[in-house]
Amino acid sequence: MKAPTRLAGTLILAMAFLSCLRPESWDPCVQVVPHVTYQCMELGLYKIPGNIPTSAKKLDLSFNPLRRLRSYSFSNFSELQVLDLSRCEIQIIEDDAHQGLKHLSTLILTGNPIQSLAKGAFSGLSSLQTLVAVEINLASLEDFPIGHLKTLKKLNVAHNFINSFKLPEYFANLADLEYLDLSNNKIQNIYHEDLLVLHQMPPFKLSLDLSLNPLDFIQQNAFKEIKLQELTVRSNFNSTDVMKTCIQSLAGLKINQLVLGEFKNERAIKELDKSALEGLCNVSMEEFRLAFLRDFSEDDAGFFHCLANVSRISFLGLNFNKLGGLSKDFRWQYLELANSKFEHFPTLELDSLKTFIFTDNKVLNPFTEVNLPKLEFLDLSRNDLTFKGCCSHSDLGTTRLKHLDLSFNDAITMSSNFLGLEQLEHLDFQHSTLKQASDFSVFLSLKNLLYLDISYTNTRIVFHGIFDGLFSLRVLKMAGNSFQDNFLPSIFTNMTSLTSLDVSKCQLERVSQGAFGSLPNLRLLNMSRNNLLFLDTLPYQSLHSLRILDCSFNRIVAFTRQELPLFPSSLASLNLTENHFACVCEHLSFLQWVKDHRHLLVDSEQMLCVNPSEMQGVPVLSFRNSTCQMNKTAVAVSVLSVLVISVVAVLVYKFYFHLMLLAGCKQYGRGESTYDAFVIYSSQDEDWVRNELVKNLEEGVPPFHLCLHYRDFIPGVAIAANIIQEGFHKSRKVIVVVSRHFIQSRWCIFEYEIAQTWQFLSSRAGIIFIVLQKVEKSLLRQQVELYRLLSRNTYLEWEDSGLGRHIFWRRLRKALLDGKAWIPERTADAESSQHSATTPT
Ligand SMILES: *[C@@H]1O[C@H](CO)[C@@H](O)[C@H](O)[C@H]1NC(C)=O
Ligand SMILES: *[C@@H]1O[C@H](CO)[C@@H](O)[C@H](O)[C@H]1NC(C)=O
Ligand SMILES: *[C@@H]1O[C@H](CO)[C@@H](O)[C@H](O)[C@H]1NC(C)=O
Ligand SMILES: *[C@@H]1O[C@H](CO)[C@@H](O)[C@H](O)[C@H]1NC(C)=O
Ligand SMILES: *[C@@H]1O[C@H](CO)[C@@H](O)[C@H](O)[C@H]1NC(C)=O
Ligand SMILES: *[C@@H]1O[C@H](CO)[C@@H](O)[C@H](O)[C@H]1NC(C)=O
Ligand SMILES: *[C@@H]1O[C@H](CO)[C@@H](O)[C@H](O)[C@H]1NC(C)=O
Ligand SMILES: *[C@@H]1O[C@H](CO)[C@@H](O)[C@H](O)[C@H]1NC(C)=O
Repeated sequence: MKAPTRLAGTLILAMAFLSCLRPESWDPCVQVVPHVTYQCMELGLYKIPGNIPTSAKKLDLSFNPLRRLRSYSFSNFSELQVLDLSRCEIQIIEDDAHQGLKHLSTLILTGNPIQSLAKGAFSGLSSLQTLVAVEINLASLEDFPIGHLKTLKKLNVAHNFINSFKLPEYFANLADLEYLDLSNNKIQNIYHEDLLVLHQMPPFKLSLDLSLNPLDFIQQNAFKEIKLQELTVRSNFNSTDVMKTCIQSLAGLKINQLVLGEFKNERAIKELDKSALEGLCNVSMEEFRLAFLRDFSEDDAGFFHCLANVSRISFLGLNFNKLGGLSKDFRWQYLELANSKFEHFPTLELDSLKTFIFTDNKVLNPFTEVNLPKLEFLDLSRNDLTFKGCCSHSDLGTTRLKHLDLSFNDAITMSSNFLGLEQLEHLDFQHSTLKQASDFSVFLSLKNLLYLDISYTNTRIVFHGIFDGLFSLRVLKMAGNSFQDNFLPSIFTNMTSLTSLDVSKCQLERVSQGAFGSLPNLRLLNMSRNNLLFLDTLPYQSLHSLRILDCSFNRIVAFTRQELPLFPSSLASLNLTENHFACVCEHLSFLQWVKDHRHLLVDSEQMLCVNPSEMQGVPVLSFRNSTCQMNKTAVAVSVLSVLVISVVAVLVYKFYFHLMLLAGCKQYGRGESTYDAFVIYSSQDEDWVRNELVKNLEEGVPPFHLCLHYRDFIPGVAIAANIIQEGFHKSRKVIVVVSRHFIQSRWCIFEYEIAQTWQFLSSRAGIIFIVLQKVEKSLLRQQVELYRLLSRNTYLEWEDSGLGRHIFWRRLRKALLDGKAWIPERTADAESSQHSATTPT
């Protein structure tokens, strides 16, 4: 028993082990672009997978436990351009590990705890431009074996343990180097000799990032005569004093862009000293950016004079009481103030300023005038500013303005029509509330305007001349506004340059036929998200350049008219998705048009029926022609059948009893008859029937069995049914007692008609007429049929005299005997009496 138990245990262990094994080689990499881009991220790979084609150009091996890069690991991927080895737990990179990657331009080694980096680790990378060696346990640049990478442009060694800014000699070889990121290292001191090699590098080319190093000390003149493209020093100082001395030590630096400050979440300096930035006076720069310094009060702006010769200034995330200390003749051309707090809108007077960007600021007060005579570009968006009067050159002190952005603010009252701002080319008011914009021709003087955005400005267009004067306008965006009566009138007259018009979300229900009458260059028209009920093509017909028409998200059911739509032949894209299409035969021509113009329609498969309810959600394209044809046939068929049925019904109604008779014939066939004769007579003649007919026939020899309704009809059964079932079906013959009363009684005539049918159907010559009393011919003629019969056939005439009676009875008996199952006596007079039957003339 022990052996099997042990075996089972081993098996279980083996299975457990197998299930723990990560499937590696057979776990396929994602082929992003076949033969070019492969993504093998986080697949538990211990080695470079063998199934990647050698043509691969981009390979992402990040988050795999590769642990060690052996020599010639990538020799099979000579085409590789980008190799990502982020967080591969690599501890050892051997000599020639990257040998063969002669086209590699980007190598990413981020997040590997490298302990051993061979001298030849990067040999063979003859085209490498970007090396990302972030967080790789690097302690010094001196030992980093990259001196031979002459093509290197970007070197990122952020987040390491580098504690010296000594740039090794080999940097002199890296003539292409543009960017060196040393941020988040352990550099505390910068000495003059550290930067000597920078003098041997091309001037104004290198950008240096030293952010997040705990800088303590910079040797005087360390940066003297050094020419850099950019230097970033953010969140480096833990006190104003350190900051002050360090900045002073930047003296003599010549630079295109200097970035100072802190990061939003990495602010160490509690209070900024007035003089902290004064060292900037000895730095020569083109552009200065200052970001996220806490408590940057009015007084500290005393350093502004040091920036007098800077042409581009950006202040981000600062607190200003106001922007004081500025002189008119500062050479600032570009000023950006963003994400900052202002107590007042800054009063600016700067003679050279061309661009002023003031966005995302918190300002307590409304916009106040500025005096910027050279201003061309003004962006005041996203400040919740109120503009009490807009806009004229007196507000801005400039007549050169080309770009004005007042979007995402509070209320803007339009009070003057851009007097003195005739140079404007771009005007953006979106998401601010425009007041009085539709009261007069606000834009009348803007004949150079190319772009106008008044989307979502709560503008209700009442005045048709609102866009008068915009002769050059190319783009007009006015989504999210409204029109009087939800009707789009002809307000775009003389805008012959317009190429793009957006009137989406304007609650439009109707469009004037001439709305787009004079827009020969319009290419894009957006009518989306309105309330249009029908697609009327007439307004669009004159748009000879129209390429894109967006009518999505309306309530369009079909075309306005039955005739097919005529769009301009230039139309290339029509968006009709999300409308309320009615997939009914009434709109067959529209539905067919949709099918025929699939190429024109955007997402035509996504155009869904909304009505009728059973078609809801069904693609319009799957509506079938034949449904309607079938429907037509169905309608025709049903009309016909209704007709037939009603005719049949009428006939049935009329000949109900005849049919019952017919049914009865089938049922009873020519079976045994219970009665010898069924007697039809008028109730007025009942006495005669009882006293004469019944007595003589039933009590005579042979006795005949008569069917008399007063006696033989089954009570409770409808009288008509009795007549047929009892009277006709069970009797061999029918005796019709014709009298004046009979002819006058409709009931009797009815019975008689049935009898005739019965006779016809059962083809028995079974009707015996007894004329009880002389009937005037005129009366008889009322019953044409009976008259005809009586005049053609023989009949018995009742005579109340001795001999007459005798003859009558004999003849009647003989007639009744005809066809009787048993014939007890066959007398000669019975034979002869047939001849004496009279035929009235
Ligand atoms: C390169 O490819 C060859 C053949 O395809 C294979 O034998 C060799 O092991 C591969 N080398 C590496 C380092 O993967
Ligand atoms: C600033 O940093 C230095 C070392 O980097 C440290 O000695 C000093 O205490 C720090 N000062 C403050 C105010 O944090
Ligand atoms: C500028 O540098 C000179 C010497 O190079 C020095 O005397 C002067 O104080 C510096 N100015 C400022 C504002 O640091
Ligand atoms: C700005 O330039 C002018 C003349 O070119 C010079 O006199 C002045 O000292 C400079 N100011 C600064 C802060 O560099
Ligand atoms: C449009 O222009 C024509 C001539 O260019 C002019 O006669 C007409 O008045 C203009 N219409 C409007 C509404 O400006
Ligand atoms: C039309 O405007 C809507 C929103 O108003 C937008 O989603 C859509 O992309 C625009 N269509 C085109 C063709 O630009
Ligand atoms: C309609 O289709 C066009 C072209 O594909 C697209 O740009 C536009 O965004 C669509 N409209 C909406 C409202 O999605
Ligand atoms: C649908 O009917 C139209 C005529 O109304 C015809 O031209 C077209 O070919 C038909 N299409 C199909 C798919 O039957």
